[in-house]
Amino acid sequence: MSGLFISFEGNDGAGKSTQAALLLDSLRKKGISAVSFREPGGTDISEKIREIILDNENYKMKYMTEALLYAASRCQLVGEKILPALKAGNVVICDRFLDSSVVYQGVGRNLGIDTIEEINRFATGGLKPDLTFFLHLEPSEGIERKRSDGELDRMENQKGYFFWKVYNGFMELAERENERIIKIEANRPPNEIAAEIEELAERFIAERGL
Ligand code: TYD
Repeated sequence: MSGLFISFEGNDGAGKSTQAALLLDSLRKKGISAVSFREPGGTDISEKIREIILDNENYKMKYMTEALLYAASRCQLVGEKILPALKAGNVVICDRFLDSSVVYQGVGRNLGIDTIEEINRFATGGLKPDLTFFLHLEPSEGIERKRSDGELDRMENQKGYFFWKVYNGFMELAERENERIIKIEANRPPNEIAAEIEELAERFIAERGL
């Protein structure tokens, strides 16, 4: 695979989407071919699955149904968009990927990390990001940011302790996979965070000779 796969992870409201967009912009300005996607979503089919997952009316959804829907959305995104873009030599930026399922469904929903990894091996053929930026922000701050942005979706409407489990899950995962996952302090002005991410990403890209 000739491209490079970068993901952004973190609790709700940590600022991933902003940072993913800023990185895309800065890479393109430097003449590096890059594309970006969000999860769940990123293809027409995956966006439809996203609506089902996040709809507050779907409060009866079983945790395993939720995990399988995230995996189905990911399967479509990988096959339709990510693999072709990587094969064509692009930098692929993804706003969330497998780590979110490991942490939200595996840890937050207690489905177990092994189960989530197994489901996702089917869904993605084992694809993992080369580099992951984990935007570190305490969950209470993140949810406050979301609340001030407007109505909360089905996932954001979970109880506070769920987000602490997710937060602890990310912290443990970042420690376990510290070669791939870089922890970035997110409680700072967005341009300061973006500058740090840009520098790290560009160094990585240069090492890959892209
Ligand atoms: P996202 O659009 O990134 O929301 P936010 O901007 O609030 O971070 O993701 C939607 C929600 O889906 C978010 O609450 C995290 C959750 N999620 C999972 O639980 N598992 C997953 O595999 C993914 C990709 C997201």
